[in-house]
Amino acid sequence: MELKEKYLEYFKGKKYNITTFGCQMNEHDSERISYILEDLGYTYTSDRNSADFILFNTCLVRENAELKLYGQVSSLKKLKKEHPEKIIVVSGCMMQTSTAREVIVNKHKEVDIVFGTKNINSLADLILRFLETGQRVIDISTDYGKDDFEKYNSTNYFQAYVNIMRGCDNFCSYCIVPQSRGREESRRPYSIIEEIEYLVDQGYKEFTLLGQNVNSYGNKTNYGFTFPELLNRVAKIKGVERLRFTSSHPKDLSDELVYVMRDNDNICNFFHLPMQSGSNDVLEKMNRKYTIEKYIERANKLKKEIPGIALSTDIIVGFPTETEEDFQKTLEACQIVQFDSAFTFKYSPRPKTLAAKLPIIDDEIVQDRFQRLLDELYPIFYQKNNEYIGRTVKVLIESESKNNPEIMTGRTDTFKLCHVKASKDLIGKFVDVKITDNTSFTIAGDLVK
Ligand code: SAH
Ligand code: SF4
Ligand code: F3S
Repeated sequence: MELKEKYLEYFKGKKYNITTFGCQMNEHDSERISYILEDLGYTYTSDRNSADFILFNTCLVRENAELKLYGQVSSLKKLKKEHPEKIIVVSGCMMQTSTAREVIVNKHKEVDIVFGTKNINSLADLILRFLETGQRVIDISTDYGKDDFEKYNSTNYFQAYVNIMRGCDNFCSYCIVPQSRGREESRRPYSIIEEIEYLVDQGYKEFTLLGQNVNSYGNKTNYGFTFPELLNRVAKIKGVERLRFTSSHPKDLSDELVYVMRDNDNICNFFHLPMQSGSNDVLEKMNRKYTIEKYIERANKLKKEIPGIALSTDIIVGFPTETEEDFQKTLEACQIVQFDSAFTFKYSPRPKTLAAKLPIIDDEIVQDRFQRLLDELYPIFYQKNNEYIGRTVKVLIESESKNNPEIMTGRTDTFKLCHVKASKDLIGKFVDVKITDNTSFTIAGDLVK
């Protein structure tokens, strides 16, 4: 690339900083962005204000993520005035919708480059175009372009996210993701397999396959691979020591997937299965396409075939029309399923979604239900973690714990966050830990020599 050569000197010594909002897809997109920036010559800094290139990768799944972004971008106005040469960039899901994009474009003149979730691969060109012209660059593409081998800088050298699909076709009535990420598309199986084989060669051990609903992998294609078939194929790649995936829609959780998990030791005994609500009336209005009975049946199938499997979920409280009786059904379902962990959200109306037309519930009621949901869930989590005491479990050590450098944290196969006294050189390695202690959110123990 000729232009790139021209700016070689410019990029020398320049630093970049990325702030990521939202889910694993966005985290992974940030890893891809970081690869492109480092390829140009930038190096990473965690200090946003000293960076020459400041990027926000945005999310709009709930309103608070959006408000936070506006706040953080506004706080850079002064910095940009003092240092007009700094490049400020906004990317990601928010930029895929015209409303949020217009706010950034019209009210935030400090932003130099805007791009979306589909044209990450052209980022280098966008930056060069900006440097050449000095004009703001706003480029939102509507398709992903070539289904390439994806390059990225993983946050560490032993765990990697791998996109297997993009977008979502489910249109849950509360959710803006189908607008921000577009229609569902599956990557070609051989492109995925090739990518994972390459990563195994690089020394990666744990892989997480990503999609908004991995269970519908391969639909609308002639690939001849369903998700269970893809998972089974990936599990057979030598060197894939742990295999995870997220997210799964309960309506598409097949027996075949359960059996593939059961029959491959390296597929982790953990399942994130978003329930959203325990009330059939609410589930129907959410357009979830399953009943709570069917959800519980699926959860039981997982527990029966894969003893010891940990289940996590997403729950929304205060969806429009949710009555106290509906809410009670959510609490009951939590008791029946006995989740190991859960992400809990207060309903947030999102523009142009079907649910946004429904009357919202009083915030005080929602807050009260939200608190009661946590009060119901935390003792269940505690009990689930408490069952680990006395057991010896395999943990992949990930990092030093935040508060104490002598304590390392890692995850079990069942995705339990585990603290253990160990040295830093065990990061990236599997160790055996005898569990002695727990909270609702963590387990802890001693290294078994
Ligand atoms: N595709 C994933 C979810 C992506 S969004 C899946 O279906 O599992 C992650 C979670 O955010 C959802 O499961 C839902 O619980 C929550 N969520 C989405 N839209 C929301 C909204 N408008 N208000 C509150 N929570 C929402
Ligand atoms: Fe949103 Fe539903 Fe798609 Fe998940 S499955 S991304 S909740 S529309
Ligand atoms: Fe948010 Fe986009 Fe993920 S809206 S939750 S970052 S797909």
